[in-house]
Amino acid sequence: MSQKIALVTGGTGGLGTSICRELADAGFKVVAGYNSGGNHEKAKAWQEEQRKDGYEIGVAYGDVTNAESCAKCIETVESLTGGSVDVLVNNAGITRDGMFKKMSWEQWDEVLSANLDSMFHMTRLVINPMLDKGFGRVINISSVNAQKGQFGQANYSAAKAGIHGFTKALAQEVARKGVTVNTVSPGYIMTAMVAKIDQKIQDSITSTIPVGRFGKPHEIGRTVAFLADNESGYITGADFSVNGGLHMF
Ligand code: CAA
Repeated sequence: MSQKIALVTGGTGGLGTSICRELADAGFKVVAGYNSGGNHEKAKAWQEEQRKDGYEIGVAYGDVTNAESCAKCIETVESLTGGSVDVLVNNAGITRDGMFKKMSWEQWDEVLSANLDSMFHMTRLVINPMLDKGFGRVINISSVNAQKGQFGQANYSAAKAGIHGFTKALAQEVARKGVTVNTVSPGYIMTAMVAKIDQKIQDSITSTIPVGRFGKPHEIGRTVAFLADNESGYITGADFSVNGGLHMF
């Protein structure tokens, strides 16, 4: 069987790197989508680091907030891999935390664009080829803060909650054609995004996590790889919470 192709948006970031590696370990041909503010050298350096560790992972530039840029990203993936995307991991995301009473439109708009509009731009480009092939996996990275809300994240919680509606609606539309759509909802995973939270706030969050620690990136990567598997075809429209027990429902 030919190697399936996986595209991970935000692939060179904290969670993204781990997701790329887990998918490569599972036998996928993996491409990391990156934005990095257009810093192509940074992405190449990331690629080199992966190579040193034995991972051959492609890199494709794309701004997930921009439809044209996403189309170019998909063209790059196709030219790098010689095929169309079988597994799309919509992982790219940003935070612009602040209390709502002080939140600017820009803080709202940037977060909604990067975390939710991105679902439309990227998935719209890959869904028809998946339906034609009769196989596809769309895995959307949401957050525990979509489910429980979070002080200081009205924008992020709204965008990440939107992902759940998107997942469940699309899952119904494509289920009969071998395409599954699922959500993974990480809790606080130790990446640069979480590291920039004030240390005192980090400590108070840790004290509320039943497992007693922040998560590790590979704990998300392995969940994604499980959902991407050929044998996971009966799981669709589902959400996988990986949050150390921080929120149970
Ligand atoms: N619940 C209730 N009250 C809170 C609170 C909380 N969780 N956090 C802070 N407050 C209170 C403070 O005690 C303070 O009260 P007083 O004015 O009475 O002293 C008041 O709210 C203002 O708090 P700050 O001084 O912290 O306000 P700020 O404007 O400096 O910062 C903030 C606000 C940026 C939102 C900051 O509180 C913060 O960074 N919070 C963490 C937000 C967070 O968890 N982000 C997650 C990022 S990681 C991620 O998003 C990944 C993922 O998917 C999980």
